[in-house]
Amino acid sequence: MSQKLTSQQLSALAQEYGTPLYVYHAEKITEQFGKLKQAFRNTDTVFFYACKALTNINILRHMKALGANVDCSSINEVKLALHAGFPSNRILYTSNGISFSEIREAKELGVIINIDSLSNLEKFGQAFGHSYPVGIRLRPNIMAGGNIKISTGHERSKFGIPIEHVPQVKDLMERYKICIHNLHIHTGSDIKDVSVFIKGIEVLFDIIPHFHELKFIDLGGGFKVPYQEGDSETDMNALATKVAELFSAHPAASKLQVWFEPGKFLVSECGYFITTVNVIKETPAARFVAVDSGFNHLIRPMFYDAYHRIENISNPGPEEQVCSVVGNICETDTFAWDRRLSPVKEGDLLVFYNAGAYGFEMSSNFNARFKPAEVLVLDGKAHLVRKRDEFSDLLRNQLEVLPA
Ligand code: LLP
Repeated sequence: MSQKLTSQQLSALAQEYGTPLYVYHAEKITEQFGKLKQAFRNTDTVFFYACKALTNINILRHMKALGANVDCSSINEVKLALHAGFPSNRILYTSNGISFSEIREAKELGVIINIDSLSNLEKFGQAFGHSYPVGIRLRPNIMAGGNIKISTGHERSKFGIPIEHVPQVKDLMERYKICIHNLHIHTGSDIKDVSVFIKGIEVLFDIIPHFHELKFIDLGGGFKVPYQEGDSETDMNALATKVAELFSAHPAASKLQVWFEPGKFLVSECGYFITTVNVIKETPAARFVAVDSGFNHLIRPMFYDAYHRIENISNPGPEEQVCSVVGNICETDTFAWDRRLSPVKEGDLLVFYNAGAYGFEMSSNFNARFKPAEVLVLDGKAHLVRKRDEFSDLLRNQLEVLPA
């Protein structure tokens, strides 16, 4: 049975810690990780949790305990992963657009690195030659993902070394004796269609013969999870079967380990964002339900037109009232237009589902609002894992050079 927190549990947590509140359910993460392990049990596969989705140190530690590795997208994520207790050989840094000094630092920390440009690959070769194996991120020219903003493998994407530049990669490899041990792609997020991953594998298979020291093929993340009723997730068993088939049939690839970097798949559904209804405003255009939050706390609806299921947990019952759920930010911050909810009154608790991935992590202090608290539920016990901001946090790092 799928792991879930009940409305009663969520209401009690809101009562105890206040709102707006992010709640994460550790057992749901365990369940999702278990699905991956089970599906890929017959393939030599390693999963690197793409921690950009949610970096709370306790989430990182839970991942580590499960046996996941970690994928980072900045040197500070690398440092958080080290702080969480991951050994450097379980940390992957997939960089893009970064200064070479950051790559040098990652190398000094001993983590695994994927390089995303010819420019940094050349600097890497000049500095380290053959001494430190490295991966390259390639852009396979595949359109994939839920929408263009989260599609990263197509011909106009900034990510990766375009696949047509493999000859230049080879030149650099030969000139500086660079040891390339990993070929990486990540084509987007919310990818339901297994064939997208297959296309990526085929693109990489074509170029394998150019790389004589390969050990890994890294297919990135992007697995889809259900956001709406009736949605489904990427069929992991179908993907695993196909991957096993393709890799075992390929003479060179059959010796390679396969890597994935799931973010959403592991943490989206573990997260609940609980808000309180501040104001109800009836207008001819809509019945606005304004909650004590905004895109400063959950930006996905405004940024990607993302759909988050919302439930009024204070009034369980038929969802028969059409509302527009908005925030309290001094800018349009609509969470949902014309959404059916059970009848809402001021003071009710509205829960946003799928709030674990890219929720808190993309939050800000816009309008000088506090960032929410975060709670982790593990073994039925709630732990406060981040305090709500307080006023002093808004002044932290500001230097008061002018008199009041
Ligand atoms: N690997 C790399 C190199 C990535 O850039 C990403 C996500 C992942 C793995 C993990 O992808 P996932 O499994 O989470 O789909 N903020 C957006 C998603 C942006 C994803 C960025 N890169 C959202 O909220 O939909």
